Amino acid sequence: MSRTPLVLAAGIFYPGGEHITGWRAAGSEPHAYLDLDYYTRFAQTAEAGRFATLFLADELYVWDRFRSGIDHGVNVRLEPFTLLSALSQVTSRIGLAATVSTTYNEPYHVARKLASLDHISGGRAAWNLVTSASDEEARNFGRDAHLEHGLRYRRGAEFVDVVNGLWDGWEDDAFLFDKESGHYADRAKLHVLDHRGDHFAVRGPLSIPRPVQGHPPLFQAGASEAGRELAGRTADAVFTLGGGSLDASQSLYDDYKRRAVAAGRGADDLKVLPWFSPIIGDTQSDAEERFRALAALTPDRVQIDLLSHYLGADLGERDLDEPFTFEFDLDGFNQSKSGYQSIAALLAQRPYTIRELAWEVLRRRFTVGTPDTLAAHLVERYEKGAADGFILMAPTLPDTLVRFVDDIVPRLTDAGVYPREYAGDTLRDNLGLARPAGRNAA
Ligand SMILES: Cc1cc2nc3c(=O)[nH]c(=O)nc-3n(C[C@H](O)[C@H](O)[C@H](O)COP(=O)(O)O)c2cc1C
Repeated sequence: MSRTPLVLAAGIFYPGGEHITGWRAAGSEPHAYLDLDYYTRFAQTAEAGRFATLFLADELYVWDRFRSGIDHGVNVRLEPFTLLSALSQVTSRIGLAATVSTTYNEPYHVARKLASLDHISGGRAAWNLVTSASDEEARNFGRDAHLEHGLRYRRGAEFVDVVNGLWDGWEDDAFLFDKESGHYADRAKLHVLDHRGDHFAVRGPLSIPRPVQGHPPLFQAGASEAGRELAGRTADAVFTLGGGSLDASQSLYDDYKRRAVAAGRGADDLKVLPWFSPIIGDTQSDAEERFRALAALTPDRVQIDLLSHYLGADLGERDLDEPFTFEFDLDGFNQSKSGYQSIAALLAQRPYTIRELAWEVLRRRFTVGTPDTLAAHLVERYEKGAADGFILMAPTLPDTLVRFVDDIVPRLTDAGVYPREYAGDTLRDNLGLARPAGRNAA
């Protein structure tokens, strides 16, 4: 079987791009962040570049733990299902992926919303499963503190099982609409779920027919041991943190594939899509200059507060230019474990001051280059078994996406790794994934 061509996903974290203060960049349009027109241009540009899917990141709180989260970069945004429903009507091929927290949702609601989006988009819905990461989110849902890491992943696993079970409750041809006989649905093709587990009790049936794609694709980005385990068993694609060496990316890729196979699936059933956040310049020095100009828009305060957030400790009172030491406690840490671990790994390599560390944590998110070097980087990672594709997290919008589609996509196509046309009508088709038959299929 030939390999699925390189897959691209276009993500939005902050409406203005991946960079927290990208909203200050020359071409950004912060006044348009609540306009459908702004996102329509984004979606249509990505569709012109044959991206398999859009992806809307989401969090269920405002980052006000530190002052700079309100003063300089607020994580306010439109609710993903509402926005994607609107975008489904102004696009025709691109996938529509909504971020869903399995900690602060109920599976019945989520199964129903995804099935609805899948039906009105003709089979283009997807979800990005997150377990959420902060106490601030817990406080918006009747709790003082976030669920413990292992517990929230176990809840996430059961959540996926219930959602899939609800979707499979109706067989694909359960609805008859037979005016002559008066039969709307075939009772024999309905299988009531009757789920009773540790976290959920859900009878079913779901109040909407089985989705066009059977199961809208499931994306995940959990990178801790528990996160990888869940992805290996259940995800159709994982977003990984790219940016490391080729070797490191290959072993991460192999790790996810191994987990999929260990769970009884095919290695190709789980696509690995590293994060790619390019700073694109006409020459390498132009690109470096663009990065410096973008970084100069980020007040020190924001960088330090972000580092404080990732470490779950307020570093604001410490001396920013003294060598930095920190007692890491991975077991006791309850936010993103993989992000925490990666900062510990940096500090294990050499000493950093807080200022240097904050800068490094910001810098390593981005790949700086020209269209030639950036395209060559993507082709190499794809060809050498480090990626099945990439999630483009453009540092600034709309300019980076436009430039990527104009200058990098044609280079990928010319290299023979990227499709000239969409492979099919549904997102599953364009990800090279088969449609699941359903657990109750005859
Ligand atoms: C590309 C990408 C997108 C992500 N999007 C979100 C998001 O929208 N919302 C969220 O709460 N977490 C998001 N995350 C974080 C992960 O879902 C996950 O919570 C994080 O990696 C920590 O997981 P861990 O505890 O398993 O390490 C994203 C991560 C990556 C790499």
